[in-house]
Amino acid sequence: MSELTEITQKPPLEHLAIIMDGNGRWAKQRELPRIAGHQQGVEAVTQIVDECVRHGIRFLSLFAFSSENWGRPRQEVDALMGLLLQYLSSQRQKMLAEGIRLRVIGDLSRLSEPVQAALADAERETSQGQTLTLILALSYGGRDEIMRATKKVAQQALDGHLDINQLDNRSFSTFLDTGDLPEPDLMIRTSGEVRISNFLLWQAAYAELYFTDVFWPDFDAVELQKALDDYLRRKRRFGLTDDQVKGE
Ligand code: IPE
Ligand code: IPE
Ligand code: MG
Repeated sequence: MSELTEITQKPPLEHLAIIMDGNGRWAKQRELPRIAGHQQGVEAVTQIVDECVRHGIRFLSLFAFSSENWGRPRQEVDALMGLLLQYLSSQRQKMLAEGIRLRVIGDLSRLSEPVQAALADAERETSQGQTLTLILALSYGGRDEIMRATKKVAQQALDGHLDINQLDNRSFSTFLDTGDLPEPDLMIRTSGEVRISNFLLWQAAYAELYFTDVFWPDFDAVELQKALDDYLRRKRRFGLTDDQVKGE
């Protein structure tokens, strides 16, 4: 195979999804409060967003707060929401200048009014961004998202706006929070845990998975490059044979 063919066969990476885990353990290792880990985690987010822009990745989904994380101590939940508000205000100028479009997925109705308002403002202000779509998963759970989508489908059917016999994978997916977004090509999880923890259950059906022991606050440009290099060696078949994928 010529070098050129090899290069053109590398799988495209349009959408990167990350389960940012290990903030608490990062802090514990340093005998710091868990919130210090979350603070450092925000620094990692800033750096990885810059790296995605540099790599020309068009969509970055970050799992920031799960539907299950509501069960954490009140103090930690409040601190995380405070960090989110700080992040939004500190990144506003940069997002506008660099064409970063913010999108939020999850059950936003569970978030406080000020958080909902700040997110809606940021989404509206950055809606024209063309460089990178930054998708923040907040109060997000894959099962919860699929359940909410199913209820919308059922309601439309009851109202006579949708013929259930016409429903297929493609049309169902438009009812998800990610309805207009491409599916993730690569999903990274930090911190050594090897599970999905309810992230993008439907959308990650054919995502390549990459796990690293590095805690999220230590995940930097070098660690991202390792994941991207690993991804470029993957062979995505989507259920087909090797020969079919090569177009033979
Ligand atoms: C990930 O880090 C951030 C959130 C889930 C909000 P954790 O807070 O889960 O950190 P660990 O897993 O306890 O180390
Ligand atoms: C997953 O991390 C959720 C986020 C990264 C926001 P968790 O720390 O909540 O996941 P589990 O509990 O270890 O599966
Ligand atoms: Mg965790």
